[in-house]
Parts: sequence; C-alpha cells; structure tokens
Amino acid sequence: MEIFVEKDYEGMSLRAAQMVAIEIKRKRQIVLGLASGNTPLGLYKYWIRMVQQGNLSFKGVTSFNLDEYLGLAPQHPQSYWTYMQENLFCQIDIEPEHVHIPHGDVEDVAAHCLAYEQLIRQVGGIDIQILGIGQNGHIGFNEPGGRFGNSTHLVELTEGTRQVNSRYFLQGEDVPTHAITMGLKSIMNAKQIVLLAAGENKSDAVYKAIMEEVSSELPASVLQLHPNCVFILDEEAASRLPASVQGKREVAR
Ligand code: PGA
Repeated sequence: MEIFVEKDYEGMSLRAAQMVAIEIKRKRQIVLGLASGNTPLGLYKYWIRMVQQGNLSFKGVTSFNLDEYLGLAPQHPQSYWTYMQENLFCQIDIEPEHVHIPHGDVEDVAAHCLAYEQLIRQVGGIDIQILGIGQNGHIGFNEPGGRFGNSTHLVELTEGTRQVNSRYFLQGEDVPTHAITMGLKSIMNAKQIVLLAAGENKSDAVYKAIMEEVSSELPASVLQLHPNCVFILDEEAASRLPASVQGKREVAR
C-alpha cells in the first residue's frame, strides 16, 4: 500500500486527478470505478477543468459507480445517478452509454446485481477504483460486519451512515434504509485502488484501515491485502498515523 499525504483537500484532489488522468491518457480504453459523496467532488472538479482546457478526454472511459440507494429512481434529486450527472458526467465528454450506475428502482434486485457484475466482467474488469471511506470504515456501502466475499448486493445501511448522509435529504426519515453496493470482492478485483480521505473526522477510520489487523468490522482494512492500492490523504485525515507511516509523506506541491 502506498500512502500520499497532501497538505489539504485541494492537494489531495489534485494529486488523485493527475494520477488517474495519466492512466486515462496512457490507456485508450479504460474502466473506472467511481464513487459519490463529498470526498471525490474536488477530484471531479479537476477532471472537468482538464477536459474543458482540452487536456483530457473521457471518450475511451467506461465507468461503474459503487452504489445507489434502494428505492430512488435515477432522476430522484438525491440519487447517486443525479449526483454523478451534475457533478461529473454532464460536464465531460464521456459517452452516456459507457456510464453504469446501479438502478435503485429495479424490481428484481438480485438479478440486477448479478447483471451489474457480469457487465463489469464483460468489459475486462475495473482498471482503477476510486474510493472514499466512511467514518465507520465502510467502502462503497459495505458496512462493518459485511462479508469479504460479497459481490454487488443489497445492504441495509447502519443508523450512523443514514445519519451522516441525512445532510443531503430534507428530513432524516427520507434517507433510504437500504442500498445496492458493489461488494468488497468486486472492489478488491479492481486492478488498482485509489482511496481518498480528507478531514479530521476520517482520521480514526484511516488509522484503523492502515494500522490495525484486517477485519470485517473495519471494511476498508481489507485494502491492506490489495497488491496495488494507494491512499491519498490530507494532513487531517492522516493525523493519527504514526511517524513510521508519516515518513512516507509527500509534501504538497
Ligand atoms: P463522504 O463519504 O465522501 O461524503 O465523506 C464517504 C463514504 O461514506 O464512503
């Protein structure tokens, strides 16, 4: 596992944007796993800027998003589909048919999950998976206690996750209770993983993910077993890491 610590959120976002942009340019057809939430917004902002300045194209990119709330149709204002359209896809040149996000309003969830996994396999698997991390150590919506062997599946969200995410909804009770998420196995199958974390409130989860034993109680800890995983952190998210790990710090440019 490689760890980069940047001074702040902007530095974290820029490093991630540049790192992935190099791969997008190098590989004409590339499959990206994308995440929603607050954390990747800066990364998306930099990609959009690169596209607008003519320095990057998403024409050869296929994308798969990690998760979607169960019960929300794509057009719902709080769906991750809407989030992705507004914060990235509408502003870059990706082909709409190359974009994949689980549908939260399907009738047969199990069949949908299976088809999602098949689609990922059909395109050769995910080259680079972008991840955030929850305060409880979840990645995607793989909550503590979930199985490492899970592929895309239906999960029940913890009260804590619903509370954290209630900031996007008008009333707490509107936050869906379930979601469809790529599983830990789907995530671990990606050829490269880039996890982003910023802010003091992520420092505990980041510490446990890197420093403690791999455990399903802290789902992100499974990333210790991935052969090509990069954590890009800001100083606050990295603040609990000991000096031996902090020694790998890179100074923000
Ligand atoms: P955040 O969420 O980026 O909004 O902090 C990350 C997550 O819960 O995985």
